[in-house]
Amino acid sequence: PDGSRVIFPTGNTPLKMYQVLRNRDDGHGCFQVYQLDEYVGSTEYRDYLKRELPSRYSLHCIDGKATDLEEECARHDRACQQVDLCILGIGKNGHIGFNEPPSNEASPTRVVQLDPSTVEANQTPHTHAITLGIRTILTSKKIVVMAHRNKHAVLQEVYAGRTPAACLAHHPHVELVVESPP
Ligand code: GLP
Repeated sequence: PDGSRVIFPTGNTPLKMYQVLRNRDDGHGCFQVYQLDEYVGSTEYRDYLKRELPSRYSLHCIDGKATDLEEECARHDRACQQVDLCILGIGKNGHIGFNEPPSNEASPTRVVQLDPSTVEANQTPHTHAITLGIRTILTSKKIVVMAHRNKHAVLQEVYAGRTPAACLAHHPHVELVVESPP
């Protein structure tokens, strides 16, 4: 409904969802969108969300260029408590947001060093990022994880209870949407 608070991810997986939201041109549905993660020193993910989201949505950004990154994490973390819906993608190593292994349920919103495999998968020059912590993600009223078909291998790890994404199994309202193999 109008005014719902949602956490939205970046990446290739949700691009079709954003297209559907833009094309839903009935003027209804105006969400408060909270950014999931951002590279330190960058506005890349904020720019992505600004580009992909209908312009009538309010966007609550992470300032990856803040001088006091710890304070920026604390500020954004306070804003992101108990949202109505959190939509997530999943990294090839099972990360959610940038909660790299071995993040767990207690991981706070913080600056993280990216796993070398993530730097390679994302083809990015950045080595550090701010991510909402799994602890805050788990306060969401509902969580939906979207997995493209190229994530089938890591999903086996998730089902086995390994990787950070497996922490979501403890949430009472979590849904996994997986694209079927070709
Ligand atoms: C990045 C983001 C994640 C995202 C992941 C998967 O690492 N930090 O939030 O879920 O990429 O991206 P893709 O959907 O392009 O596979």
